[in-house]
Amino acid sequence: MGSPSILTERRRFIATLALGASAFAVRGAFAEQLARTPAQTEGPFYPDRLPLDTDNDLIVVNNDITPAVGEITHLSGRILDETGAAIRNAVVEIWQCDHDGVYIHSADASRKPRDRNFQGYGRFLTDSSGAYYFRTIKPVPYPGRTPHIHFKVTKGRRELLTTQCYIKGHVGNPQDSIWKAVTDARARESITIDFAPISGSPIGELAAKFDIVVGSTPAG
Ligand SMILES: [Fe+2]
Repeated sequence: MGSPSILTERRRFIATLALGASAFAVRGAFAEQLARTPAQTEGPFYPDRLPLDTDNDLIVVNNDITPAVGEITHLSGRILDETGAAIRNAVVEIWQCDHDGVYIHSADASRKPRDRNFQGYGRFLTDSSGAYYFRTIKPVPYPGRTPHIHFKVTKGRRELLTTQCYIKGHVGNPQDSIWKAVTDARARESITIDFAPISGSPIGELAAKFDIVVGSTPAG
């Protein structure tokens, strides 16, 4: 796909959203406030030049046949406000390094060759339930960092949140200064998610769910 509209991208993968289905907070007069997802640094590797393919399938670049190296992960979740209301038409961007620890950022890719079959970046427009979906690889460590995936959520011109998610139980987490910077136990838990094997997947695919709660309630 050259650079299809985000709407087109959404349609392409909408059928797979069922993977991320889960119980959601009920919105209502007595709905409890959800805890905001903690913000995390954007870091130095937000792409300095976006790839030509920016869809939500990071495993396949354009129409290439060779997929990215890594453990295929179906990553999904919802963007919610603190009352549990869905935030639709939010743009969710993710970026992460390839299986060898290399970002698509030119300052990083210059150090060693990167996996040309890994898109490294993707974006998705949330639907009416606030849901997003990506197919990507399970993140891996690189020098100085425990595995993580970067997220940025915007709506219109407003940036709602920049954060990162982590692998639950990874031995590198307690050594990671950015992970440790979230000192509240529940907040830390909210960004540290399971990458669980999908039963019956012949190629060992994983599913991960990361719901994001932002602190504002933009209309629509
Ligand atoms: Fe990073």
